[in-house]
Amino acid sequence: MDVLAEAEKYTVDSNEVVEFKMVKSVADLDNDACSFKPEMSHQIFGQQETIFGYLDLKIKLYFTPGRLFDYVNIEYADKVDPDQFNGVEPDNIMEALKKVYTFEMNTSLDKFVTSIDKEPHFKPSGELIHSFKHSTASESGAPREKTYELYSVQNLDSDMVSYLSRVQPFLLWYIDCACFVDTDDDRWSYFFMYEKYQNDSREVCYALVGYATVYKYFTTPFTQPPSWRPRISQVFILPLYQGQGLGPRLYRSICDRFLGDKEVVSITVEDPSEECQYMRDYVDVSACAKLPGWGKQQLLKGYSPEMEKEVFDKLKLCKKQARRVYEILRLGATNMNNTVEYKQYRLLVKNRLNAPHQKDVNYQKRLNRVLKPEEMKTFSCLDTEQQRKDKLHSEYKELEKAYLKVLQRMREHAFEN
Ligand SMILES: CC(C)(COP(=O)(O)OP(=O)(O)OC[C@H]1O[C@@H](n2cnc3c(N)ncnc32)[C@H](O)[C@@H]1OP(=O)(O)O)[C@@H](O)C(=O)NCCC(=O)NCCS
Repeated sequence: MDVLAEAEKYTVDSNEVVEFKMVKSVADLDNDACSFKPEMSHQIFGQQETIFGYLDLKIKLYFTPGRLFDYVNIEYADKVDPDQFNGVEPDNIMEALKKVYTFEMNTSLDKFVTSIDKEPHFKPSGELIHSFKHSTASESGAPREKTYELYSVQNLDSDMVSYLSRVQPFLLWYIDCACFVDTDDDRWSYFFMYEKYQNDSREVCYALVGYATVYKYFTTPFTQPPSWRPRISQVFILPLYQGQGLGPRLYRSICDRFLGDKEVVSITVEDPSEECQYMRDYVDVSACAKLPGWGKQQLLKGYSPEMEKEVFDKLKLCKKQARRVYEILRLGATNMNNTVEYKQYRLLVKNRLNAPHQKDVNYQKRLNRVLKPEEMKTFSCLDTEQQRKDKLHSEYKELEKAYLKVLQRMREHAFEN
């Protein structure tokens, strides 16, 4: 037997074999429309994202939509015999899952089916902070309006800690370097978004749509009262609800929650992914576009202290994000076909991008003055002026592309909350 070829046959991509399903009714067990796949699995099955030892492997991870009662099922056509693989055992899938799903996982389909009937008993915990209707295209393409509710939880009781142990594992399949928050640290607050729907018996039920956490980060802990920043992290919308504009509504509602708090200095987002930054830009730019002091004329005159004050006072955007939002709106106000106007815009952004490198440029100029050309070769790690200009230009172009995407999206979907 060619052991290597056989081992390959028994090695599968762990992202491919996992199937999630949110089951609202028994009929959904056979409905592929409520299935979804993970985006990553290295935080569960290891860096290679492979599972060894099984043929035609399928790992089903089913949940009821509100209580998140689970059903796990591992199916395969064949499993390796360690005697034929130099004693190597097939990977222990259940063990890998148990490291993440710390509760007693359910393997009985009957128990799962019974639990579907208990969904109407589930009521979200915490304070209802926002309720809204939102239209999305249905399978037929016609718009369909649904009701959503957002709950905030400040202090966790034991039921909530146990509920979190069912919510948080989802993050590991979708966010790189996701981690579970320390539930003993009371500086965390938790936000849960639900779809409110009626089941086949017309009973009101809730389905989890999204989740986010906010950390209370003190900036001046010793003043009275202390000032602080809400730091939003781990924003997550379940795949079945992604791409419908619900993430932006979650983010906006969380920000609104803190706007009236005098102790809050500014609102930040922890290490946003590209998708998260896109969502944040869309929401923040939509809000700034409505500020009286942020009209086209003011935008074209430059980023004034009055504009900066208005955005801090009314939206509590942090400095960096406020400046980014200004650049996006200014691009929207710029006629890109007007050579002078467009050049002014490019310079404005490039000057900002170049500012942190100016120290290197000055250092290089000083070296140029005091060293001979052959001595300068020792410093070959420093970019030439042309290399710097090229890098700056490509950095600018990348930003411009991201900014135009946000502006385009605002034209397609006016943001409402
Ligand atoms: C990042 C994330 C939170 C965004 O949430 P989301 O609800 O999917 O975001 P959106 O619905 O706004 O999705 C954007 C797309 O929806 C489209 N869209 C459809 N209907 C829309 C509407 N009514 N309003 C706004 N946008 C809408 C947008 O045009 C956009 O499409 P585009 O990329 O082609 O421009 C979500 O995708 C997610 O959880 N990802 C995995 C986890 C993650 O990366 N989290 C971030 C960690 S910080």
